[in-house]
This record gives sequence, C-alpha cells and structure tokens, in this order.
Amino acid sequence: MKNHPTTRRAWLQQSAMAFAGLSVMPNWWNEAPLLDFSNENDKPISLGSNENPYAPSPVALKAMQDAAKRSNRYPWTVTTQLREAIAQKNKLSTDHVVIGAGSSEILGLTAQWAALQNGNAIAADPTFGIWMRAAENLGLKIIKVPLTTDKIHDLPKMLSAINADTKLVYICNPNNPTGTILPAQQLKDFVMEVSKTRIVLLDEAYLEFTDEPSVASLVTGNRNLIVAKTFSKIYGLAGARIGYGLAHPDTIKALVGLQPWANHSGSAVSLAAAMASLNDAEFISYSRKEINKTKDFVYQEFKKLNIPYIPSHTNFLYYSLAAYKGADWRKALADNNINAGSIVEQNGKWARISVGTMEEMQYFMKTVQTIL
Ligand SMILES: Cc1ncc(COP(=O)(O)O)c(C=O)c1O
Repeated sequence: MKNHPTTRRAWLQQSAMAFAGLSVMPNWWNEAPLLDFSNENDKPISLGSNENPYAPSPVALKAMQDAAKRSNRYPWTVTTQLREAIAQKNKLSTDHVVIGAGSSEILGLTAQWAALQNGNAIAADPTFGIWMRAAENLGLKIIKVPLTTDKIHDLPKMLSAINADTKLVYICNPNNPTGTILPAQQLKDFVMEVSKTRIVLLDEAYLEFTDEPSVASLVTGNRNLIVAKTFSKIYGLAGARIGYGLAHPDTIKALVGLQPWANHSGSAVSLAAAMASLNDAEFISYSRKEINKTKDFVYQEFKKLNIPYIPSHTNFLYYSLAAYKGADWRKALADNNINAGSIVEQNGKWARISVGTMEEMQYFMKTVQTIL
C-alpha cells in the first residue's frame, strides 16, 4: 500500500499528476471515439427520420458543451427554467407543461393514461404510430380510420368511429407521413367537440414548419386535450431526446404521475440545448427557408418525372410509386446508400422521403430517375 494516498490532499495531488499524465497517453486515447453513434441513419444519405440536416445550431451546440461540464449534477433548475420558458412562449403557466425525452414520451404517457381507462383509441391511417405498440400492449385497442383521398384526416369519419369505449382520439397535424394539414377552424371545432367527452391527443411535431396556429391555447379550460411538441424537428435536436406536452394542470398531474420521475426525463445536455433553441428565431427561419427551397426543387423534379406527390407542410414529402415496377423501393434506395425509412402505404404504393440538404436531394432525385 506504498502508493496509497493517506489524506484527501495527497489523493488530489496524485490524481492531478495522473491527469497531467494524459498528455503522454498513447495516440488512441485522443483519436478513438468514446462511443459509436453510427447507425442506419448515418448511411451517407439519411432521409428516413425527418431530421433537420442543418442542426445542431451553433447556439444549441455551445449550450450542450457547457452543460456537459455540469452533468455531474441533477439539472432540476434547468428543467424548471425550460418549463417556464415553454409556458411563456405558449402564453400558459408552468403547471401546464410536462417535459419528456422526446415528444414520443408524451404520446406514450397519454396513451398509458387512456389505456388505464380501458377502451379504444381512434387514429388515422396512415399516421404516426410509434406509440401504438406500447398502448396496445396495455390493452388499448386502436381503431384506424383511413385518410381521405387527398391524404388528409377524415374528421367526419373519425367522429363517427367514436363508440362507447373510445377513450382517446389522436390527431397528427401536420400528418406524418403525408405532410397534410387540417384547416385551423375545422380542427379547432373537432377538438372542442370531441374533447367534451374523450381525450384528444394533438401531435404538433411539425407545426413549426407552417404558419398555422397551435391549438395549445385551448388547454386552459379543457382537461381532455394534450398537445405534444418536440425539439427533434425544426429545432434539430432529435439526438438530444427532448420534447414536451401542454395540457390542463390537472391533466399534467395525471401524466407526470405515470413518469418514474416527474418531469425529469431530460438530461442536463438536452435541457440546455432545448433552452438555447426555443427562441433561436434565426436558426428556425434559416431551417425553414432552406427546407422550403429544397422542397420546391424536389416538387419540380417530381413533376418532370410525372411522379404524383402531396404538397407538404413539413420537412418530408409523400410521393406515389404507382409507376414503380420493382419489388422493394426501400431496398433499391438503400442499395444506393439512401436510408429512406420504412413508411410506405402498401396498397396505394406511396412512400415518404425526408427533405435533406439540396445536395442530398439532388442525389436522391438522380437515384429515383435511375431506379424508377
Ligand atoms: C408526428 C411525430 N410525432 C412525434 C415524433 C417523435 O419525436 P421525438 O420523440 O423525437 O420528439 C415524431 C418523430 O418522427 C413524429 O414524426
């Protein structure tokens, strides 16, 4: 035990010397990445998950780097600050806000809450369904209502699908995978009507790509409405895993009651990124401008190739594969190093593609031309 430091001071001195010794550590110490973040989305062209290719913004990156240094401490105060900032942005009070590790956590919490009440949920088909598997495992039956031929939520049909056992109605606006949006007044009327008796879960993951108003203001007088929002899309923080829900304070209490640690799924790093990004107007408008420009380019190219598409209110496009005679469109793209995700309407043969950078979409269009 000759080298064992006997006092705290001696231990610190020894540690400091060991730390200083890092400068003579072998090269692999500096060069080897600590973690391997590569995954399918790192295929040269990642167009399958509707991420923001321009992010993280410099502001978010700086905030994350600073927060990493504070990661030995629980980030309680930042959680509260973020809830306050979100509340302020939505003209609500802090008790209307729940923080989650991405908005998928908020979708899951809401589905759990509905499942606990035993019954079914109504959702469009196709729509964003990541939360459905866990909900079904909890006994919530999902009733799917096809979109209209224009690929928009069929609100009258959804209304008539509601039965005595319906506990939840899910609306994704704009809708993933079709990129369509509901007229604001029509949506508001539907929400007001349905939420008199059922939980309405409104997923606004892509609303920041539009000029449409959020329905969040309706939560103040309404215990049955939950609005799910994310930092993964326009804010470009998909990897940070941070999102939030807005609801009546009583509903927030019910939702956080289902979290292992109320409001504390966010890490110091993700919370800091979200705080920095929430009002980063310059980055938001830059992202929107670039994505719109690139979307216009893809529309033009689709037109040249006679590929029908749905005008999109998001950072992804829904296009027809009616002309495709091959067996597996997704694989054909993957063989060309494009990860295009898995959402394809089997019958109508429609596919979704995220809007990447201009260079990526030029490459995508060249590939489409070759494999179609
Ligand atoms: C409509 C919709 N809602 C929610 C999410 C979940 O986002 P996150 O959990 O990354 O916040 C996504 C992700 O693609 C989505 O498309």
